[in-house]
Amino acid sequence: MLTTEHQAKYRSDYRAPAFTIETVELTFHLHEKQTRVINSMRIQRQTPGAFELDGEQLKLVRIELDGSPLTPDDYQLTATGLILDGVPDSFLLTIETEIDPASNTALEGLYKSDGAFCTQCEAEGFRRITYYLDRPDVLAVFTTTIIADKARYPYLLSNGNRVGQGEGENGQHWITWHDPFPKPAYLFALVAGDFDVHKDTFKTVSGRTIDLHIFVDRGNLERARYAMTALQNSMRWDEQRFGLEYDLDIYMIVAVDFFNMGAMENKGLNIFNSRYVLADQQTATDQDFLAVESVIGHEYFHNWTGNRITCRDWFQLSLKEGLTVFRDQEFSSDLGSRAVNRIQDIRIIRSHQFNEDASPMAHPIRPDKVIEMNNFYTVTVYNKGAEVIRMLHTLLGEEGFQRGMRRYVECHDGQAVTCEDFVAAMEQANNRDFSLFRRWYSQAGTPMVSVRSEFNSATGQVTLSLQQQTPATAGQTDKHPVHIPLLLSAYDKEGQPLTLQTDSGSLTRHESGSYLLELTDAEQTFVLTGLSEAPVFSLLENFSAPVRLNYHQPLSELLVLLAHAEAEVTRWEAAQSIYLQLLKEAITSNQDICLTDELIAALKRLARADIDPALRALALSPPTAEELAEHYPAEIPVTAIAAACRQLKQAIATALQHDFKALYENYCQSDYELSGTAIAARSLCNLSLYYLCLAAPDQYSKQLVQHFRGANNMTDQQAALQTAVHLNLPCKQELLSAFGQQWQDEPLVLDKWFAVQASSPYEASVEQVSELQGHRRFTLTNPNRVYSLLATFSRNLVGFHHPDGTGYKLIGNVIAQLNSTNPQVASRLLTPFTQWRRFDSSRQKLMRHELERLQQLPDLAADLAEKIESSLEP
Ligand code: TRP
Ligand code: ZN
Repeated sequence: MLTTEHQAKYRSDYRAPAFTIETVELTFHLHEKQTRVINSMRIQRQTPGAFELDGEQLKLVRIELDGSPLTPDDYQLTATGLILDGVPDSFLLTIETEIDPASNTALEGLYKSDGAFCTQCEAEGFRRITYYLDRPDVLAVFTTTIIADKARYPYLLSNGNRVGQGEGENGQHWITWHDPFPKPAYLFALVAGDFDVHKDTFKTVSGRTIDLHIFVDRGNLERARYAMTALQNSMRWDEQRFGLEYDLDIYMIVAVDFFNMGAMENKGLNIFNSRYVLADQQTATDQDFLAVESVIGHEYFHNWTGNRITCRDWFQLSLKEGLTVFRDQEFSSDLGSRAVNRIQDIRIIRSHQFNEDASPMAHPIRPDKVIEMNNFYTVTVYNKGAEVIRMLHTLLGEEGFQRGMRRYVECHDGQAVTCEDFVAAMEQANNRDFSLFRRWYSQAGTPMVSVRSEFNSATGQVTLSLQQQTPATAGQTDKHPVHIPLLLSAYDKEGQPLTLQTDSGSLTRHESGSYLLELTDAEQTFVLTGLSEAPVFSLLENFSAPVRLNYHQPLSELLVLLAHAEAEVTRWEAAQSIYLQLLKEAITSNQDICLTDELIAALKRLARADIDPALRALALSPPTAEELAEHYPAEIPVTAIAAACRQLKQAIATALQHDFKALYENYCQSDYELSGTAIAARSLCNLSLYYLCLAAPDQYSKQLVQHFRGANNMTDQQAALQTAVHLNLPCKQELLSAFGQQWQDEPLVLDKWFAVQASSPYEASVEQVSELQGHRRFTLTNPNRVYSLLATFSRNLVGFHHPDGTGYKLIGNVIAQLNSTNPQVASRLLTPFTQWRRFDSSRQKLMRHELERLQQLPDLAADLAEKIESSLEP
């Protein structure tokens, strides 16, 4: 039997806090290895009982209750906290602890990132700073004083407004910050270091001027310009679209190199992984720029959805994350191409979230059981969570959704609330019943919607029969129907859009332009009337619900949609369906892919179509091997998938060689610009060059080297490198060494060099990655290096799943090392192993062996234990 020393927590066990903290005054004496923290809390009893504080890896120095020192008899110290018996109903508690930031490799709590001190408190890191009620429903007003050496740490930052400063002895100085907004401890932040500061302001809609400061490593000032613009755009957008204005007088962002995740929304003092702040033409790709914009937006939008209104408990994480991802997606879509953004979001759900749903770690967007909270910052909570919000938006329309938002903010500003409170606000503001819709919060797994359409020429009617079914997931066997908004439209054979009506009246058009059907039962039929021929349907338009669609459509119909659908996303979707059919057929029949003349003609028209070049690039790109693997729930045919993907691209390259040549010539730009148009052009230009090198490597290798050498921006340079490596061209070594040489001192750029090699679709990539682990710039202590080289490799279908198991061993060994230094990062690397049951028996055995080996590690971290145990469960 497997036993665990790690305790599970259940959502149903929630109890309101027995004590609350009104104010907290923190004083930090910063030292590398011995930082002292003095914490004075005004505490109020709510219910009878002992007072239990959370605390981990702390050295207790002293405790005082209402000014009197306590002795060890007065309290009980445990591995996870401190218990005080017989405390009064209202008291002042002062606790002094000592911590060791320099040895903090887990990057949770207070740690050093190169020369600077910084913090990461979400989800439960504050308890590594001091004893506290480290739970999101305890909201306190924080005042923080930081004392440190002035020469080494000229900037001392914390949340809120600066209210005091002064000089101390021995070259020390101090600064006091006060945050007037009560907040949970996970939003606390402290930074101390030496930086370059990019300063600007923002004038809010009500006329207040906000100071905006972005702190970066010295020498990087220019690379913070774009982030500043993104921040100003975020602030303006939240006012215009959501009516939400910033509240403090200053907003600070600090970029650090050592960070486990993307960024953190600490009140008034965001801390960012430097990869989401630093960006310029030379070192950042277009995708990097867009990611900076989206993460800057995301953290800013948290100020209302997360900070002003926070989570009651961590099971409600999607309350802030799903909603804030939805908001950042809308921000990016309003500023850039809505269709391109939507396609990228759809691909994340299908390739990563569906996988998670099909894994032993499957969980609802609001989990019921958690061992290690850090394991639940997932694509399910974040991205499926955002899809659930998007469905509400689809059901209510923009106006109704915003009405619900206003209600949510009015009712809950300043509170710690639940997902239920959010749905209830949407419901009440719109007079709707979302009782069925709530199942999206409690049910895990990806619903499958199966559709049949039957045309009756005598009556001119089409019967659409729909069924929905959600497969069983770990711990959840019987599933119920969910409320699914199904957007659809229909065309005739010539591609003319059809007006739809049902037997019970006209079908109202949704504001998106499609029609909206609401599925609420396991089986439903809709009768569409007044049709003179069998229509070509586009179902689940814009991916209106996070479900799989089982609807067989002949190639002829897909070609109609590809050529004529009004929504760009639908045209891309049609292309993907065509590719998928070809790939699956090739794998099933074990035969080569052959493009029909009809299809070639359609693709040629697409290449020349008068639509956004970025969309053409996306539609001319078949699914990746990893995306195709998602379509094999039972046994993923690794080798056949890789072969089919290669073949399909080869076939497209050959058939459209002249078209790609023309596209390359048309869309290649000599002057650099960072506009939507220029970005779109670069994507089509670089894709064309890739296909040309695939069609005729001898002829185009030279061109590729020229493209690389002549590039005046990172997008083109990186694309050329990737083409050379992924197509294994003769110039591969030349470009790899040139790139490695040029960027050896720019870790964020070198990460691209690592990632390109780690994602190379060959079995030999495992040897390459193994060698790169010894590269002088590679280190396991920096999460960005681990992600770019090793997490990338672990998602490489061909390389990671090398039949001899060397890929598994390589990653397994790294996980074993990170178990003791950075369990959060270790746990992220483990994710691909949770899929072990989806491979052939030989690979299953090898993967399982790795999991069992890791399970035996001494001091196995909770993060790993939770995932390994659920993976090995029979
Ligand atoms: N709240 C952060 C976000 O989504 C996520 C985050 C940042 C995080 N750092 C973390 C979560 C560390 C867990 C651990 O923007
Ligand atoms: Zn977030």
